[in-house]
Amino acid sequence: MTTRIIGTGSCLPKKVLTNTEMETIVETSDEWIKSRTGIEQRHMAIQETTTSLAVEAAKRALEDAKTQAEEIDLIIVGSVSTDRHFPSTACEVQSAIGAVNATAFDINAACSGFLFGLGIANAYFASGTFRKALIIGAEVLSKMMNWEDRSTCVLFGDGAGAAVVEKSEEGIISMTQGSDGAKGGVLSCCNRPVNNPFVTNDTALDYTSMNGQEVYKFAVRTVPEAISKVLGDAGVSPDEVKYFVLHQANIRIIEAVSKRLGQSMEKFPTNLQKCGNISAASVPILLDEVNKAGMLNKGDKIVLAGFGAGLTWGAALVTW
Ligand code: UT7
Repeated sequence: MTTRIIGTGSCLPKKVLTNTEMETIVETSDEWIKSRTGIEQRHMAIQETTTSLAVEAAKRALEDAKTQAEEIDLIIVGSVSTDRHFPSTACEVQSAIGAVNATAFDINAACSGFLFGLGIANAYFASGTFRKALIIGAEVLSKMMNWEDRSTCVLFGDGAGAAVVEKSEEGIISMTQGSDGAKGGVLSCCNRPVNNPFVTNDTALDYTSMNGQEVYKFAVRTVPEAISKVLGDAGVSPDEVKYFVLHQANIRIIEAVSKRLGQSMEKFPTNLQKCGNISAASVPILLDEVNKAGMLNKGDKIVLAGFGAGLTWGAALVTW
């Protein structure tokens, strides 16, 4: 028994913010952003919210999977940028799509959120609790940026991706997840501080801060290790993998992973050029693009991998 991906969907906000337009907001240049990251533009929510993007991605995934909302018995949303502390985005999605039979909750595993969500669904399926799930990554990261900090605001974007997964005989072959909370300080954004009748705290809202070089080193070490682990556990060689669908943070990280695995960059589809880094949404949006482009055939082996704040990481070897 395992978990099969049977449909995908995604949604990006209409507004596109190009590197050239970014030059009018912070002291940066198209040349710097492109050469250091590969990013050329990103989408920004104006009318959209984390929930509305998640709902649209979920509807598109259901349509692709030819599945009715009532058939879904589990909804998991990975996000670091929910609209509300509560109710969860997953419960809002449940209501919006009419998934009346679902149990719904959010998880925060940052950019690994989709991979962690897949792992939770897989464990629920194995235990016999649920049979069909919607796994969603949804973010409006633009609201969490300090728009005067060029070292972060140029990197991130907004959007949502989703997949319908079901209990099946084929699908996920092997997966791994991990965390290193001791290094959490290298990429963080604080929530409200303690504030009650006994403590007065009027600290200003916090925004995303990152030690880019530390996250970079972590990524180029951990992602190839995680991928090698899922391949090794399954006895599958990297040559047998059709595509490596990686979290979209930086083209240089993806190039380093491709080199480390001895695999051509053609096997690493990317969308960071037009989307930037969308944390938990990156992997499912890219997976949807690869799927909708007709690049996958039944039986193909693909690897999904995410990494990010926490620190967290996850990888899965999947038969399509
Ligand atoms: O999803 C979470 C995962 N996050 C990541 O994976 C991020 C991983 N890290 C990275 O992708 C890279 O470290 C960055 C793209 C964030 C930064 O690239 P870098 O090559 O490590 O640059 P740096 O931080 O060493 O900065 C180099 C220079 C600095 O100037 P000085 O000190 O050399 O004069 C920065 O102030 O570039 C400057 N700089 C910029 N210049 C123009 C930083 N941001 C910008 C900018 N435009 N936007």
